[in-house]
Amino acid sequence: MDEILGGGIPENRTVLISGTCGTGKTTLGVQFLTASGPGIYVSFEEDLDNIREYSKTFGWDLNDMEAKGKLRLLKYDPFRLEDILEVIQNNIREIGAKRIVFDSISALGIYMKDVSELRRMIIQTASLMRKNKCTTLMISEVMPNSRALSRFGVEEFIADGVILLDNVIEKNDMKRAISVWKLRGSDHSRGIHSYSITDKGISVKKSSGRG
Ligand SMILES: Nc1ncnc2c1ncn2[C@@H]1O[C@H](COP(=O)(O)OP(=O)(O)OP(=O)(O)O)[C@@H](O)[C@H]1O
Ligand SMILES: [Mg+2]
Repeated sequence: MDEILGGGIPENRTVLISGTCGTGKTTLGVQFLTASGPGIYVSFEEDLDNIREYSKTFGWDLNDMEAKGKLRLLKYDPFRLEDILEVIQNNIREIGAKRIVFDSISALGIYMKDVSELRRMIIQTASLMRKNKCTTLMISEVMPNSRALSRFGVEEFIADGVILLDNVIEKNDMKRAISVWKLRGSDHSRGIHSYSITDKGISVKKSSGRG
């Protein structure tokens, strides 16, 4: 994945991970935190014990990382984000977090009056994370066949980068395809690359060209 990104996810930036259901957004988010840390996973919907359990299938022992202070899993109600940003910052300071994942920011939008409020909330969150020197992944849900990059149509403009995880239908098969829509300041690939989810997590297939 670092290769198609032109060197990886830039430090202290916010990158949107967009995709329809089951494309591996949560898996990628957890993988990002297990690869290097310390990190924080903020869930707005998914039960944390489910994530701990599900991660075991990829060989990631989140309990152990949590015990060693390398990872924190936090769950909040999405409509409380404004109140909990301070709490999240305290958690960042306590473990010296360098990476943070919000799963998903689409959940925030559902509780907001309008998209301008969501936009303001995402900008505020992204800039706070940057101030705290955290590299941030914001997970964004996309409706199938919509060709959109986010649920509310504002998320992709705020992020420094957008990675799309897609299901491409080919005959009777669904092929997994990943593409980098943008990454500010990077000469990233513009190709559509196939990826797979295996018992080691997400892996992008090597392609011959730069794409
Ligand atoms: N061990 C595994 N081997 C191969 N594929 C797996 C494995 N575990 C999970 N998967 C695939 O990963 C998908 C789920 O990934 P994940 O939960 O990360 O997706 P998501 O994009 O976060 O989904 P949602 O939108 O529902 O939150 C499953 O639907 C399945 O296809
Ligand atoms: Mg998910």
